[in-house]
Amino acid sequence: MPETLGIAMVGCGGIARSHAFALTKVPNARLVASVDIDEAAAIRFKERFGFETHSTDLDAVLLRDDVDAVVISTSSKSHGPLIIKALEAGKHVLVQKPMTASVEEARAALALAEKTGLKLMVSFFELFLPPVERAREIIEAGLIGEPFLFKAIMAWHTPDVTNSWRFDPALAGGGIMLDGNVHHVSNALYLLGNPEVQSVYAEYGALTADIQVEDTAVIVIRTDKAILEISGSNRLQEPGGATMAFKDQWAVYGTKGTVQWDAAARPTFRVYTSEQSATDKLLADGWISPKLPVMAADHREFSMHINGEESPWVPEHQHFVDACLNDTPVRSDANFGLKTQLILDAAYESGRQGRKLPIGS
Ligand SMILES: NC(=O)c1ccc[n+]([C@@H]2O[C@H](COP(=O)([O-])OP(=O)(O)OC[C@H]3O[C@@H](n4cnc5c(N)ncnc54)[C@H](O)[C@@H]3O)[C@@H](O)[C@H]2O)c1
Repeated sequence: MPETLGIAMVGCGGIARSHAFALTKVPNARLVASVDIDEAAAIRFKERFGFETHSTDLDAVLLRDDVDAVVISTSSKSHGPLIIKALEAGKHVLVQKPMTASVEEARAALALAEKTGLKLMVSFFELFLPPVERAREIIEAGLIGEPFLFKAIMAWHTPDVTNSWRFDPALAGGGIMLDGNVHHVSNALYLLGNPEVQSVYAEYGALTADIQVEDTAVIVIRTDKAILEISGSNRLQEPGGATMAFKDQWAVYGTKGTVQWDAAARPTFRVYTSEQSATDKLLADGWISPKLPVMAADHREFSMHINGEESPWVPEHQHFVDACLNDTPVRSDANFGLKTQLILDAAYESGRQGRKLPIGS
């Protein structure tokens, strides 16, 4: 078994900084190549994070024996073809959400991952937030009883609707549902133990500007366990300006209590349980803020809206690297990615038809 995983980073833009930073903190990761169609971006990454080389030619990089895995953080519509290319070259893949921009591409990616036996993990960084992990334990232990409602919103402000790829369907493949709501679809599936999805209904549209993809969306999902209400927008106006205005909250309501997280609140994570066996008598009947592991200061990634103490990026990348080296399962694999894609696909179709729909299989 190799001791280190050689990694090529494809796409050296905004969120790739979080991936690259995290990889510099993973001892068994080797940063081999930064790749971007924009050479200046690839060079910046080499210089900033210490990649051994840079390139604009992914095909050439994929021929290298010392590249074992590819981290894809390009604009969303390119994810599908890049996953296929990397898997065909025999490389493990960690791909930014959304896994692909269509169900067909997701199915093809899953089939190839299964055929090759390579890891295909979708980067849903919130699944590695300590409060998400703690909430899942609390729910699994029955401390909030039977969950009946998951309610979430993720919203931020993208000011320039003319130049960002996010508003170009040919590069983005969709709007805020693919870009933002997908995070909380993933959180809900994970927190509720992968419930069976019975129906999906969505309202969405371009409500704030003359653009080709939706900037605002609400998805309502009926599962065998709970109803999920997942809202999103990339046109939020709140204090903090274009880079810092960011709302990211979710809550799970159960028959015996509630868990809730709000990235901007302190503490971020609060729990109420009426399950007497779980509560200190002094705390019973009130909100409690369970102690969470605190990320070391030099491992706190700089993504704008997450409390640094909860930074999930290093644990996520350690998990991926260890899974590739030891052939252990990844938390959000291609099946998980496909399920999020099926839900989003049903949401888009539901909006077009104006009625709730089942998800495909
Ligand atoms: N998890 C999160 O919090 C989060 C946050 C932001 C973005 N994202 C996702 O990450 C992806 C990238 O978003 P971003 O905001 O970093 O975008 P960005 O525009 O800042 O960066 C994308 C980079 O990819 C490069 N690129 C595009 N196509 C390429 C190709 N075929 N080959 C090589 N390089 C290519 C571009 O030149 C650019 O440097 C998107 O899928 C987005 O949905 C996730």
